[in-house]
Amino acid sequence: MVSKLKINSRRELSKRDKKIFGQFLEHFHRQIYGGIYDPTSAFSENNGFRQDVLEALKRIQVPIIRWPGGCFVSAYHWKDAIGKQRTPYFDKAWRVEESNEFGTDEFIEYCLLLGAEPYICTNAGTGSAEEMSDWVEYCNLPSEGKWAKLRIENGHPAPYKVKYWSIGNENYGHWEMGAKDVKEWGRFVRESAKMMKRVDPTIELMAASISDLDWNLDLLREAGQYLDWISIHDYWDKVQENNDLSDYETCMAYTMDIEQPILKTKYILGSLGYLGKIRIAYDEWNLRGWHHPHVNSGTEDYLTPRDKNDINSSYTMADAVFTACFLNQCLKHSDVVGMANFSPIVNTRGAIFTHQEGIVLRPTYFVFELYTRYLGDIIVDSWLSESSIFHVDTANMTKSIPNVDAIATKRSGSEGLRVALINRHPDQAESVTVQLDSSIQYSNAVLYSVVGDSKDAYNDIGKEHVRIIEQHLNWKIPSDLTVEIQPHSVNVLVIK
Ligand code: AHR
Repeated sequence: MVSKLKINSRRELSKRDKKIFGQFLEHFHRQIYGGIYDPTSAFSENNGFRQDVLEALKRIQVPIIRWPGGCFVSAYHWKDAIGKQRTPYFDKAWRVEESNEFGTDEFIEYCLLLGAEPYICTNAGTGSAEEMSDWVEYCNLPSEGKWAKLRIENGHPAPYKVKYWSIGNENYGHWEMGAKDVKEWGRFVRESAKMMKRVDPTIELMAASISDLDWNLDLLREAGQYLDWISIHDYWDKVQENNDLSDYETCMAYTMDIEQPILKTKYILGSLGYLGKIRIAYDEWNLRGWHHPHVNSGTEDYLTPRDKNDINSSYTMADAVFTACFLNQCLKHSDVVGMANFSPIVNTRGAIFTHQEGIVLRPTYFVFELYTRYLGDIIVDSWLSESSIFHVDTANMTKSIPNVDAIATKRSGSEGLRVALINRHPDQAESVTVQLDSSIQYSNAVLYSVVGDSKDAYNDIGKEHVRIIEQHLNWKIPSDLTVEIQPHSVNVLVIK
C-alpha cells in the first residue's frame, strides 16, 4: 500500500504549546495511593513518592499535571488536607474513605520534583467561590491573610505560584456532585472567577465545559471575560459500566471522531469573539473510559470491578495508535488547543502501571516518549497527496479510514524535519513517499517507531513486547524519501 506526503517546510502554520502533552491524576483507585504515592513501597523515599514512577514521568517530560479530579473534586474540601492534622472523610464521588494524607502541599512537592506545572481543579460542586479563592490565597499570596500565613506555618514560606486553575469538573453532568444547570453555571463561574482573580490576577482560569452551544453560550456570555481556557473532556470507548473493550478496528474508527469536538468548540469560541483570547484545554481524554460500574448501586459491588482497570492486556497498539492520532489533532489545531491532559497517567487506564516489584510501561507510554523527544514545536504545511484507505464496519458505524495519519514539524531555529507518521492499518505495512523542498539540503534520515508484534500486543509484568526501535535509512539524496511503516505503528521520521 502506498501513500504520498508533500511537505512545504517554509510554510509555518503554528507553534504547539508543550502543555498538549499534559497529564491528569485523580484520587481514584490506585492513581495517588499505590500509584505515585506509596510510603510502604521499596521504591519510595521518605516523602512517600515512588522513585521508579517519578523517573518514568521525567522520561516523558511531563509539562503539567491536573489534580485532584475529576468527579472526586466536586465534594472535596482542600482545607482538610493540609497541615499536621489531616481529616479523613467519605468521598461521595467514589464512595470510599479519603485519608487526605496526600493534599495540596504534597501535590506541589511532587510537581517540583518532576519539573511539571501544577494545575488545580477546584470544587464547584459542593464548594464555594470563597473556598476556591482561599485556595488561591494559600498557594499564591506571599504572606497576606490567613491562608498564606497557614502555608508558611505548614513549613512552606515561598508561595507556590500555581498558574493554572479550573472552576469545576463536568458540573453539567448528572453524575457529578453538585451538578448545575446552564443558567446557574454561567453566574457561578463568573462570581468564582472574579474572587480568584482578585487574589491573583496572573492566574489562568478555565471552566468545566463541553462542545455544546447552549452550555457555552451562557458560560461565555456570563464569564468569558474572566476565562483564559475552556475545558472539554472525552473518552471514546465508553466502558465505564461494562468493560467490554472495543477491538483494534473499532478503535481505529474512533480516531475519525477526535477532531469534531475541537472544531465545534473552536467555532463556538469564534462565534462569540473569543478566538485568540480563550484556548481549549482538552484536560481529560483517553481512548478508554475508566471502569467503575454500579457507583450508584445499593446492592451491587462497586469496588472490586475497579481492579479490572489493572488488566494490562487491555491496553494494546490500539491505545498507542489512538493516542498518536489524538496528539496529531492537537498539533494540527495548536492555534486553539493549548493543553491536553491524558486521563490518567498512572494506573487505571494510564500509561504506567505500578506493582510491588516495579512498573509496567503500557503502549501509550512510548507514544508520549516518542513525541516529546523527537517532534518539533513548529507545525509546517504538509498534505497527503495520495493515501490508501481501509474500511471498518461495526454494529453501529461504517468508516473509511486513511491508513496514514501524518503531521510535519520542525524545531525552532532548525531546518530539520520531524514528521509523525501513523499507520492505522491492522495488518498491512505502508510505503510512504515523502516529497521535500528540493532547495533545502538534507543529509540523513532516522525513523523512530513504536512497534508491537501484533495489533493486540501489550506489555505486562516480565513481558516487554511493545517498545521503540530506531532505523537509520539509506536515502539517495536529493530524491524523494520513501519509508515503510509497520502496521499498527506510530513513527517519527527525523530528517536532518
Ligand atoms: O471516569 C472518570 C471520570 O470521568 C472523571 O472523574 C470525570 O472527570 C470524568 O467523567
